[in-house]
Amino acid sequence: MLVALSGATCIELGIRFLKLLHERKIPVDLIISDVARQIIAIETNENIAEIEKLATRNYQFRDLTAPPASGSTKIDSMVIIPCSMKTLSAIAHGYSDNLITRAADVMIKEKRKLIIVPRESPLSAIHLKNMLRLAKLGVIIFPPSPTCYHHPKTIEELFNHVLGRLLDQLGIETNIKRWDDIHEKLKK
Ligand SMILES: Cc1cc2nc3c(=O)[nH]c(=O)nc-3n(C[C@H](O)[C@H](O)[C@H](O)COP(=O)(O)O)c2cc1C
Repeated sequence: MLVALSGATCIELGIRFLKLLHERKIPVDLIISDVARQIIAIETNENIAEIEKLATRNYQFRDLTAPPASGSTKIDSMVIIPCSMKTLSAIAHGYSDNLITRAADVMIKEKRKLIIVPRESPLSAIHLKNMLRLAKLGVIIFPPSPTCYHHPKTIEELFNHVLGRLLDQLGIETNIKRWDDIHEKLKK
């Protein structure tokens, strides 16, 4: 699996996602954009070298010779979390001038699984059009919208449920509280 962190707020979501995959011993290749690196420094106390240790391989954002730039490299799925509107726009228009947008372009052309976790609010018609364009190509648009039916008490619980639902999309086991369990309890 290829994971990319681009320059949007709540970068913690991407870091937690990497940790969940690491806990499950799922091999991950990682690309972090230049602005994502700055946002990690602004929003978190995380050390980038430590984040990179969560991945099996790390690729440079500007290295268009790296394996994910080619369709001949076997990558099953790619998740961009969080995905900035700039990266979303570049992917929607096939503008592949860095390794994240090129790898996403490859996923689309090779008809492989691409999941985009967009982060912006409010959304303009440009953002929505770009998302629609990608959704029509089979890209999964997965806004990190929180759920409250599991009664989250902390940001961690809020994020973990969103990320659990993201793992669902990838067919990866997770122990999040599910609506059917909660619904059963409501009936009692
Ligand atoms: C602290 C910070 C937070 C940002 N948050 C967002 C955001 O939530 N969504 C977004 O689309 N852009 C956001 N931006 C702007 C993008 O980082 C900017 O458009 C950048 O060019 C994205 O580049 P990248 O996608 O290659 O990382 C933010 C920038 C900074 C510095």
